Amino acid sequence: MQSIAEQDLGTPQRISARSVTLTIDGREVTVPEGTSVMRAAALVETKIPKLCATDQLEAFGSCRLCLVQIEGMKGLPASCTTPVAQGMKVTTQNKQIADIRRGVMELYISDHPLDCLTCPANGHCELQDMAGVVGLREVRYGYEGANHLTAGKDTSNPYFTFDASKCIVCSRCVRACDEQQGTLALTIQGRGFDSTVSASQNVSFMDSECVSCGACVQACPTATLSENTLIEKGQAEHSIVTTCAYCGVGCSFRAEMQGEEVVRMVPNKDGGANHGHSCVKGRFAIGYATHADRIVKPMIRAKISDPWREVSWEEAIAHAASELKRIQAKYGRDSIGGITSSRCTNEETYLVQKLVRAGFRNNNVDTCARVCHSPTGYGLKNTIGESAGTQNFDSVMKADVIFVIGANPTDGHPVFASQMKRRLRQGAKLIVADPRTIDLVRTPHIEASHHLKLRPGTNVALINSLAHVVVAEGLVKEDFVRARCEIPAFEKWRSFVLQEKNSPEAMQEVTGVPAAEVRAAARLYAGAANGAIYYGLGVTEHSQGSTMVMGIANLAMATGNVGREGVGINPLRGQNNVQGSCDMGSFPHEFPGYRHVSDDAVRRSFEEAWGLQLLGEPGLRIPNMFEAALDGEFKGLYIEGEDIAQSDPNTQHVTAALTSMECIIVQDLFLNESAKFADGFLPGSSFLEKDGTFTNAERRISRVRKVMEPKNGYADWQITQLLSNAVGYPMNYTHASEIMDEIARLTPTFTGVSFDRIDQLGSIQWPCNDAHPEGTPTMHVGEFVRGKGKFLVTEYVPTTEKVNARYPLILTTGRILSQYNVGAQTRRTENSRWHDEDRVEIHPNDAEERGIAEGDWVGIASRAGDTVLRAKVTDRVQPGVIYTTFHFPESGANVITTDNSDWATNCPEYKVTAVQATRVGQPSEWQKRFREFSKTQESLLKDADVFVAK
Ligand code: SF4
Ligand code: SF4
Ligand code: SF4
Ligand code: FES
Repeated sequence: MQSIAEQDLGTPQRISARSVTLTIDGREVTVPEGTSVMRAAALVETKIPKLCATDQLEAFGSCRLCLVQIEGMKGLPASCTTPVAQGMKVTTQNKQIADIRRGVMELYISDHPLDCLTCPANGHCELQDMAGVVGLREVRYGYEGANHLTAGKDTSNPYFTFDASKCIVCSRCVRACDEQQGTLALTIQGRGFDSTVSASQNVSFMDSECVSCGACVQACPTATLSENTLIEKGQAEHSIVTTCAYCGVGCSFRAEMQGEEVVRMVPNKDGGANHGHSCVKGRFAIGYATHADRIVKPMIRAKISDPWREVSWEEAIAHAASELKRIQAKYGRDSIGGITSSRCTNEETYLVQKLVRAGFRNNNVDTCARVCHSPTGYGLKNTIGESAGTQNFDSVMKADVIFVIGANPTDGHPVFASQMKRRLRQGAKLIVADPRTIDLVRTPHIEASHHLKLRPGTNVALINSLAHVVVAEGLVKEDFVRARCEIPAFEKWRSFVLQEKNSPEAMQEVTGVPAAEVRAAARLYAGAANGAIYYGLGVTEHSQGSTMVMGIANLAMATGNVGREGVGINPLRGQNNVQGSCDMGSFPHEFPGYRHVSDDAVRRSFEEAWGLQLLGEPGLRIPNMFEAALDGEFKGLYIEGEDIAQSDPNTQHVTAALTSMECIIVQDLFLNESAKFADGFLPGSSFLEKDGTFTNAERRISRVRKVMEPKNGYADWQITQLLSNAVGYPMNYTHASEIMDEIARLTPTFTGVSFDRIDQLGSIQWPCNDAHPEGTPTMHVGEFVRGKGKFLVTEYVPTTEKVNARYPLILTTGRILSQYNVGAQTRRTENSRWHDEDRVEIHPNDAEERGIAEGDWVGIASRAGDTVLRAKVTDRVQPGVIYTTFHFPESGANVITTDNSDWATNCPEYKVTAVQATRVGQPSEWQKRFREFSKTQESLLKDADVFVAK
């Protein structure tokens, strides 16, 4: 358990090779050059009073509370803005200083409501603290003068309130929004007495550019900006550090608690991925855990047209086990399987794959990473030798050119985007390759040098033409390549990319990107001292997803941009534990640590540990499970934490497969779309209710800590264990840490990982073993994991998903900041205030041609199906391309997407679907059927008393 108070050293840390020694109140202190006097004092536990300073923000020097006396210097300088100097002698307290500080506080307090006892900040108000510190006993100016005490409140934001009457205009909020978040939504308007904090052009927070990250709330030293939960519930009495369960950034939070109730989530300053920052999801969107839809009791039914029946855990587990065993007895060993999720902890995922391999005795286990980053695993493993990103996030602060390909970090990875934007504001250059004008292309104080607005589906053509320029113009880092890579493979690749067909001029017809722009972008990236590539699902979710990942690796190796800070190949993982779910062996062909099931030595190690023989043949991938189900060969499925009926492509194909099975057991928080086809429902626990670990996009393993007892009675790993015992393979872990201990024993890259070690170090980036006892922030230093880096030829093969007269547009998909994935969590929070439906973005030309206006209903038809969404007419998308998010099941975005997939991994080609768009007046036939089916399924639940108590 951690204390609520985190020390604030007043100004940010400075890193310097040179140290400076000075004396503060007679005590000697040595600090890095550039450190402020305030921070140096705090390091020897001398707390200089302060209001406008905080160590999360650059010093501003406005409140004058922190003044000190420095021998040989005139006046009383502000300690927050004064850097240390060798031999400096500082006095932090004497009568003169005390009188001035008291005077400053008197002025503040004379214009401040004296309602401390009822104020939400009572107990952690820095103004109150400072009044105490300076010994304020009276306010000579009285309270009757002109003041701001009747200034109103802005309650427009669902998560926090702005009470202007309490503002001391310290501008910490403004600086937090500028420096930390990078949105620049706040300003101080007016001068002197009339100065006020204003959102945008004096509008409400909700109507401004504010993205509700909460950085300003955290920075505010008074109760002016306060979380609504804090106002409602009051102060927490203890806090526990845990990890956000949303995206792959993996932010660390202190859950501030009253008993078993969360008062608020405060980003942890010690968090290696987020350094005290967060986004709207992690900080505020946790209400789903107690939403009225949450099911906390097990249920079964004989068939999907029957009402659900609440049963005991014993009966639910017995039902699941006997059905799965019955099916295997009747249809064979391979007729059942399991699907785990990137939303689960490492320990949970590990147990699901163990249950399948040891309990079901087959390898039919897969994970939702199949449909997002499986090409990353394949492409990186084959080129550089490890299926993971090469850097930590902090590495971006040393990048000179940042190349973002097929990723939208401000929406998908917001906290990392803030860090990236900070580096860009410092002067790093930006290249964006994306069919759509994402926010990053032009945002306050940032403009991409090149936006390569390519046609969806032409990534490989683009990467080949970039590589062509690098080779043809002599930009290859020959020394690096000669020393670090396999030369015959490099030579083969070099002659391939040099072919005229790969030149930007030849490829511009395919990609739609002007050749000159490609040439300039290639020169910029290749010429950078440090060039870093960040990519997302816009790279992987294509028929050539794996080829593109290899193309990126080729480009990074050719330009020497691997193996040190500031460079690298960085897949931005979508969900919280995509990296971990892949690491844990949840693919049908791999044991934990990416080792093939056919590897005898590896398999033997698992056989010895688990006490039984294992299969050396890969099992079924998710799409193969669907095919086998439709062929009548696959009949039973255990799904933990994943909603394949919403998230997988070609919904009608998926639901047909689910309908054809005889037993589906869903373990989840809600009756999700897949659960509507299930006969067994095992209620899951939220991340607040269990112990475990998540591994983020930087390979950082962080602890998930239980802050309350599971509302359903069991943590998810315990439920898997119950099921395993019931199918006849005994498991007897007593704590999640024992599962991690087993993972560490069996997985070379995890040898040094344990809960104790993570507690000591805060977090660990794998590999963590004898060679790297504290983990590995940067990989491939000195040599690649596979020895020599391997260039691979990446021939561009156009997708078979072609536009034609019937389907003339390309639909591509993506995410939005406020919603998360299938939306099961965020739709059940106030986040829907920002995004309550998926809309289709269409270019004004395409809209006009079709008579479509903003807000009209648009029918979107593909070769797989059709759906209806409302139109958003915007030139963010290029002519010929439409775009939608996929956070609402009734949108049916995946009714339209097809079965096409990556040649190597079967990752679906979500990003390219040929469609037609027409103005319509009613929902699609599928939507009508969906609503009817959902209504029926919800009615089958209505008599069950299974929901969470408020
Ligand atoms: S919540 Fe975040 S984006 Fe909004 S004003 Fe505050 S710091 Fe800026
Ligand atoms: S809202 Fe808070 S942080 Fe912003 S200026 Fe006012 S007191 Fe300072
Ligand atoms: S950036 Fe990702 S991990 Fe961080 S708070 Fe937001 S959703 Fe959570
Ligand atoms: S804390 Fe230094 S001037 Fe405000």
